[in-house]
Amino acid sequence: MTAETIALASDHGGVELRTQIRNDLEQKGYRVLDLGTEGPDSVDYPDFATAMAAALKEGRAQRGILLCGTGIGISIAANRFSHVRAALVHDAFGARMARQHNDANVLVMGGRTIGPEVAKDCVNVFLETAFEGGRHARRVSKLADRGER
Ligand code: RB5
Repeated sequence: MTAETIALASDHGGVELRTQIRNDLEQKGYRVLDLGTEGPDSVDYPDFATAMAAALKEGRAQRGILLCGTGIGISIAANRFSHVRAALVHDAFGARMARQHNDANVLVMGGRTIGPEVAKDCVNVFLETAFEGGRHARRVSKLADRGER
């Protein structure tokens, strides 16, 4: 059992996988903050990246999981927020690296590009892997707002 709250959000392309991930997390004892979307109606993925960014900023969740059809659009949208490090992954190796090297606080996957068992594996690895720090901390610090170039 853990006190950590994990926020989940997706557009319509990730609804089904989000439901499976939510059930799995709740079974494992995580608190889940589900930010929608509800149902299959077409919605705009940037709105759900914004909801995730707000939940993290306000401390309503400590980490998050975002899904859209491919994971591409919603990861681009989420990374517009300077306090979000969203990593689009396709397997457990990517999920592990996203934590060890990138200190990602949001895991992103594609509801139409990954199967549920691989996705749950990614979630488990993401939530259980620590940031390595060291040289990676220097690099991550350089991800802060770089300004206009
Ligand atoms: C919605 O049809 C789809 O474009 C969206 O889920 C996502 O894949 C965008 O990157």
